[in-house]
Amino acid sequence: MIRYMTSVAVALAVLPAAAHQDVALKDLMPKGMVIGVAINQRQFDGADAAAVEIITKQFNQISPENVLKFQPTQPAADRYSFDAADRYVQFGLDRHMEVVGHNLVWHSQTGAWVFQGADGKPADRDTLLARMRDHIRTVVGRYKGKIHGWDVVNEAIDEDGSMRQSPWQVGIGDDYVAKAFEFAHDADPDAELYYNDFNLEKPAKRAGVIKLVRDLQARKLRIDGIGNQAHWRLETPAIDEIEQALVDLHGTGLKVMYSELDINLLPNTPRGADPATANPYASGLPDEIQQQLARRYADVFGVFLKHRDAVTRVTFWGLSDADSWLNRGRMNYPLLWDRRRQPKPAFSAVVEALKHAR
Ligand code: G3I
Repeated sequence: MIRYMTSVAVALAVLPAAAHQDVALKDLMPKGMVIGVAINQRQFDGADAAAVEIITKQFNQISPENVLKFQPTQPAADRYSFDAADRYVQFGLDRHMEVVGHNLVWHSQTGAWVFQGADGKPADRDTLLARMRDHIRTVVGRYKGKIHGWDVVNEAIDEDGSMRQSPWQVGIGDDYVAKAFEFAHDADPDAELYYNDFNLEKPAKRAGVIKLVRDLQARKLRIDGIGNQAHWRLETPAIDEIEQALVDLHGTGLKVMYSELDINLLPNTPRGADPATANPYASGLPDEIQQQLARRYADVFGVFLKHRDAVTRVTFWGLSDADSWLNRGRMNYPLLWDRRRQPKPAFSAVVEALKHAR
């Protein structure tokens, strides 16, 4: 076990966020590590002006929360739809940001037609490979030279480390992942290519991901990085587990990216649970929890900064608490800006961690 002390966190959590109003995260990042945010349509369309101002000032990388996924870019076999995706890419280019593509091959947000064959049967291997190749060629090809790196395959490994039996895996076989990387590299030889997944602090799942990555490397396919989504909670995973995962993933020789960082403050409750239990902060977040969130962010940035040679990117999955996918009908507080777009103590904590490491 690696021991890690959180000396920065303890001292800084009381600092008011206003003290850091004029600071930009991107200016404090160590060389070789970009800081980004997943953006939504109201943001890249400019409709959410307050958000655009913060994104432009604070970040030097963007990811698309939804707009570049399979379903939105190819809603039907014979129809691609790029209007929104083009605006996302242009938003980043206009601001000289590193533009990431998310994602090419996933079991979710992919139209049912992709997996259907003739006569209501599942599509066969050749049909699926042809559809995958067409999609990747068209989407990656369109943004050649504009999108810096792609999440080529998302979430292919199950919790026990085995291949997830997604419709892609069932229809093509385990080599669907290798094929996706091959097609992506053909479509843009200069783009970086990533494998992206969550719960990588769990040893069994991490071992499965490392095995998959090593298989791609053995096939001499291009792969540049592993995206660790980092959908975390206040107490879990433990800092030691986060650090161990980073060391192990970097042991493949690849860059590590924290591709979808947020800290979920709500309990996992069964459907239909009493609202007071399921949605405890509906009328506001107690200051004590606010401070815990700040300390948590300082701790995780402490790990990223300690291993700055391994980590090339940290991306928040959403800008403000109002934007987060983690609300889903409840009130969550997972990010650095609050619902009024004011920086939270967690923002100050990250600023201090970054300053402390300089
Ligand atoms: O686009 C439709 C819209 O037309 C419709 O009016 C609306 C009504 O609900 O739904 C819209 O689609 C939603 C879409 O987000 C865009 O807002 C989907 O229902 C909703 O399921 C979808 O959720 C996204 C989710 O991926 C889908 O699995 C979240 O916003 C997005 O944050 C989330 O992101 C994923 C990463 O891609 C992969 N890792 C996990 C992460 C969090 O789940």
